Amino acid sequence: MLSSRFLTFSASLLFASCTLAADLPSFSDILDKTANLSTFKNVLENSYPDLLARLEKQPSSSPITVLAPNNDAFAKTIYYPVVGPAFDHNDVVAIQNILNYHIVPGSIGSDDLKPTFQYFPTWLNNATMSNVTAGQRIGGVMQNTKEMIWVSGQSSRSPAVETDIKFAGGIIHIISSLVTPPTHFPDTAELFSTAAEPFQLTSFLGAAYYSPNKSVTAVAALLNSTSDLTIFAPNNAALNTINNAISNIAKDPTALSTLLKYHIVSSPLGPWYSTNFTDGNSTTLTTLAGESLTISFSSNSLFVNSARILTQDLLIANGVMHVIDAVLDPQEADNKPQPTRATALPLYSADGKPSVSAAPFTTWMPWVIVTEVPQAAASSVAGYGFGTQAATTGYGGVSATSTNSKGGAGGRGGGSGSGEAMIIGMAMWVARMLL
Ligand SMILES: *[C@@H]1O[C@H](CO)[C@@H](O)[C@H](O)[C@H]1NC(C)=O
Ligand SMILES: *[C@@H]1O[C@H](CO)[C@@H](O)[C@H](O)[C@H]1NC(C)=O
Ligand SMILES: *[C@@H]1O[C@H](CO)[C@@H](O)[C@H](O)[C@H]1NC(C)=O
Ligand SMILES: *[C@@H]1O[C@H](CO)[C@@H](O)[C@H](O)[C@H]1NC(C)=O
Ligand SMILES: *[C@@H]1O[C@H](CO)[C@@H](O)[C@H](O)[C@H]1NC(C)=O
Ligand SMILES: *[C@@H]1O[C@H](CO)[C@@H](O)[C@H](O)[C@H]1NC(C)=O
Ligand SMILES: *[C@@H]1O[C@H](CO)[C@@H](O)[C@H](O)[C@H]1NC(C)=O
Repeated sequence: MLSSRFLTFSASLLFASCTLAADLPSFSDILDKTANLSTFKNVLENSYPDLLARLEKQPSSSPITVLAPNNDAFAKTIYYPVVGPAFDHNDVVAIQNILNYHIVPGSIGSDDLKPTFQYFPTWLNNATMSNVTAGQRIGGVMQNTKEMIWVSGQSSRSPAVETDIKFAGGIIHIISSLVTPPTHFPDTAELFSTAAEPFQLTSFLGAAYYSPNKSVTAVAALLNSTSDLTIFAPNNAALNTINNAISNIAKDPTALSTLLKYHIVSSPLGPWYSTNFTDGNSTTLTTLAGESLTISFSSNSLFVNSARILTQDLLIANGVMHVIDAVLDPQEADNKPQPTRATALPLYSADGKPSVSAAPFTTWMPWVIVTEVPQAAASSVAGYGFGTQAATTGYGGVSATSTNSKGGAGGRGGGSGSGEAMIIGMAMWVARMLL
């Protein structure tokens, strides 16, 4: 009797101890036994011992999710924005920031991700690269129910090649390209200068830098140095349609600046990601111009006032950006969304024909990129480029020449057309529409 009770007791003890975190391998154990993580292991051991120690000691009571880049990921860093230059120059601080962006508080397994995007805070909280309350966000999604994808700055996509590896301090997913810390508005908008026409933002970017009168500060300075931004960026077509009206407004730089500020929100609660808006209820946001905007859902689309959000959740260093199809007008804030229209009615009177040669303000862009028609580059190594046709087709080898040292989009390689491809613009949008 006694012995059988003892047996039961020890058996249940054994069972209990199996589920204790202490019995799970440590972070280093996983690094040691996973051949494909040897570069990650070397980088951490040789250059970031403090971060490694933190991962090793992470208590199971506050678990973390580690997006562990495999050897392939480290081998192709050169093809990626932000990540490439950091590794190229062995910029110790920048690499530390990049590695921090790979750590997400909480244990997020494949069961926790959904077919729609969720945005999670990360350990990246250096204000230069992340002026976002609670830490820079990363997007996570389960595509086609089984493909785990992490979306980071400049719409980079990092697929997980192996998921849900449990360790004492949380969970590890092995990814095949590093996640990219978001860049500031100018760099992110610039990336779209070679995107498909509906996604070009060079006109809005130029307007932000418009400063014919030195006594009026261009909005660009504000866009770089304000925290927790939500930017509703009208595409080139939206500005071009009202070319004459907006050129008239711009005769008073202060009026243009106020108009641009009506497209920008900075909230102490953090940026407004699409996931912060709930279907069924509209949300009112106060802009930097003082007047408010109304966000609502209609026929499955998100609208800001009467403008449709074409591309949502482009992460930037200090917030998030959504591309919209009309310039917003505080005088006509009560106009309702018209979901059946392909494009929102222009609000400012479209007095005269839009310029066919160039959208307004593009000559005020901080740099000028001359682009040729993108061509698929079969030889490109990394999947990175503009997907302008379908979610699985990355446009490759965007050949670009630049008139200054900023460099064009050329050399960033081409979309590989595989799940590896980091794709932006239309492809992102199509992908999200399909999700
Ligand atoms: C934040 O990152 C920037 C850019 O990499 C770096 O210059 C700066 O020293 C970092 N600040 C801190 C506090 O680490
Ligand atoms: C390991 O590396 C091989 C060769 O590069 C690759 O095919 C495989 O997908 C990798 N697996 C993981 C889990 O990283
Ligand atoms: C520049 O803007 C200020 C403030 O709006 C205005 O007072 C001034 O007249 C402008 N100067 C020129 C040259 O337009
Ligand atoms: C804004 O940031 C970009 C990229 O970080 C930089 O190139 C540009 O000079 C900055 N512009 C202003 C007005 O601060
Ligand atoms: C971050 O935002 C705050 C508040 O808007 C601003 O004062 C600060 O200069 C910003 N920091 C950086 C590094 O841009
Ligand atoms: C967005 O939602 C997150 C998660 O619920 C919350 O922490 C954050 O404060 C929200 N942002 C805003 C601007 O309300
Ligand atoms: C809309 O707001 C009301 C009142 O604040 C709330 O009860 C309701 O749950 C919200 N609906 C959704 C879909 O969030």
